[in-house]
Formats: sequence, structure tokens, C-alpha cells
Amino acid sequence: MATETKQTRFETLGLGAPLNEVLRVIGSHTSCRSYKPDPLPPGTLEHLITAAQSTSTSSNLQAYSIVAIEDPERKERLSRLCGNQKFIAQSPLFLAFCPDKYRLEYLCKRQGRPFGATFLEMFLLASMDAALAAQSVALAAESMGLGICMVGAIRNNEQEVMDLLGLPQGVYALTGMCIGFPDRTYPTVKPRLPMKAVLHREAYSVEHLEEALCEYDETMAASGIYEGRQVEMPDEPATLDGRIYGWAEHTSRRVSRPETLSEAASLRKNLRKTLVEHGWTFA
Ligand SMILES: Cc1cc2nc3c(=O)[nH]c(=O)nc-3n(C[C@H](O)[C@H](O)[C@H](O)COP(=O)(O)O)c2cc1C
Repeated sequence: MATETKQTRFETLGLGAPLNEVLRVIGSHTSCRSYKPDPLPPGTLEHLITAAQSTSTSSNLQAYSIVAIEDPERKERLSRLCGNQKFIAQSPLFLAFCPDKYRLEYLCKRQGRPFGATFLEMFLLASMDAALAAQSVALAAESMGLGICMVGAIRNNEQEVMDLLGLPQGVYALTGMCIGFPDRTYPTVKPRLPMKAVLHREAYSVEHLEEALCEYDETMAASGIYEGRQVEMPDEPATLDGRIYGWAEHTSRRVSRPETLSEAASLRKNLRKTLVEHGWTFA
């Protein structure tokens, strides 16, 4: 397994033993944005889709489909539609995870009854099924020594992606995923928020939030991750007034100017309209 030498997130937190193979893979995850051109071994796709289909699924509805794209020309087009992210064309396999109610509507027609699940919950359920399936594929791929990167930018130009993938009414592209052999090693995992910010025992509490944010700011600033990547705020003074440029500063800037989350946020403003036109309902 390619992940064996990297210090996992568990070990970084002093949660070394017992660490089984699954935890080792989970705790070693880093997004991979640079791939070797090598094709995937025969049978890999089928293993990955079996991993997806092994995931829990709401009421066994299995309300998602996965479109696999290997054709170089189609990957090039996807790469352009997904914010010109070059690694999409570079990776040998791109999977599009698609919440799917087309199949459920089809079987209602087939069985001679109306489709009644027109509420927001259906959208959430199908989106959640698709996202969970995607995560299973990610872990399966990483356990096979492959690298992955999720591609939310697939929603940048949702209509064009739907057209390219031939998605029928009631099916949309939620996230993409590049999969391939990494062409570089990722020696460390990206630090996450301290657990006390995320884990709430018995009930939600903000007691440790401030402390956690300060700690995480220090960690992320020290990692150098924001060097050359600071988000500009045209309406604010350039000085930080003694604050450090850490996760809180970076992230608050991004969510206060959503167009900086990616150039895509402005494109995604039409997403609801596109989804409604494509058969989704949010009642
Ligand atoms: C739903 C989703 C969509 C994402 N979309 C993109 C993307 O379009 N491009 C990209 O480079 N990374 C994308 N990522 C990867 C995140 O940037 C990455 O997971 C995050 O920065 C944490 O880094 P790590 O995965 O290396 O730990 C996406 C992740 C998720 C979960």
C-alpha cells in the first residue's frame, strides 16, 4: 500500500495504535493534483464502483449514478468546464457522481403509479447518497495506491456538463473525482481544525471554539499554505492590524466574497435554475 510510510492524521494526533489498514488509508488522505499518464490496471473501475455500491444508501433507493470518463478528448472538455483544472485531463479516469431520480421516476411509470417524492428531501437524499458513494470510491482508490481529487468545479457549468455527460432529467452532476497514480509523493496530510472545534459531546457547544480557531490559525499560518494565495479584499485596508493570516482570516475572506471560493461561485448562481429546469424540485 502506497500510504504506509506517511505519518497518518491519527499518528499526528498521538492516536497511533491500534491503527489498522483502513484507518491508515483514511488518515493518510491528501488530494492529488498531479498524475502519471499510466492507465489503471484492468478491473480497477469495477472495484471502485463496487466500493461505491457497498455504501449505505437511504432506504436502499440507490439514488445516484456514476459516469466514468476515460476518453482524452472528453476529459479535456471537462477540464475546461471545470475551471480549467489541468489535472482533470491528466488523470486517466474521471468519475462524475450524479444524484439520480430519473431511475426512480422511471420505475414509478413502469409500475404504473405517480412519482410523489417531489420534495426537497428527495434532492438531499439523492445528493447525500452520491456524496457518500464518492467518499467510498476515494478510500477504495487510495487503498489501491491511487491518488484522487474531488472536483466540485463540475458544478461551475452544470448545464454544459449535463449535456456532455448526457444526463437525463432528474440527474445532475454533484461532484467529480480524478483518479490515477500520483506522480509525486505527498509527505504530509493537510492539518484540520482541532477536534474540539468539531466534536461536541452530548450537545453543541461553542466553549472551545475561540481557542480552537487560534490554535488552527497558528498551525495553518506556520504551514506556509497561504503564501502567495492570500485573498484580496478590495474594500478593506491592506494591513492585518496584528492579526495573523491563518485559516480564520483566509476562510472569512473567502466566504464573504464567494466569487473567491473559486471563480465558479458566480457561475454557480444559476445552479438552482438549471436544476429546476432539469427536473429537480425543492418544495
Ligand atoms: C466536494 C468537494 C469538491 C472539491 N472540489 C475541488 C476542486 O474542484 N478542485 C480542487 O483542486 N480540489 C477540490 N476539492 C479538494 C479540497 O480542496 C480538499 O479536499 C481540501 O482542500 C482539503 O485538502 P486535502 O483533501 O488534501 O486534505 C474538493 C473537495 C470536496 C470534498
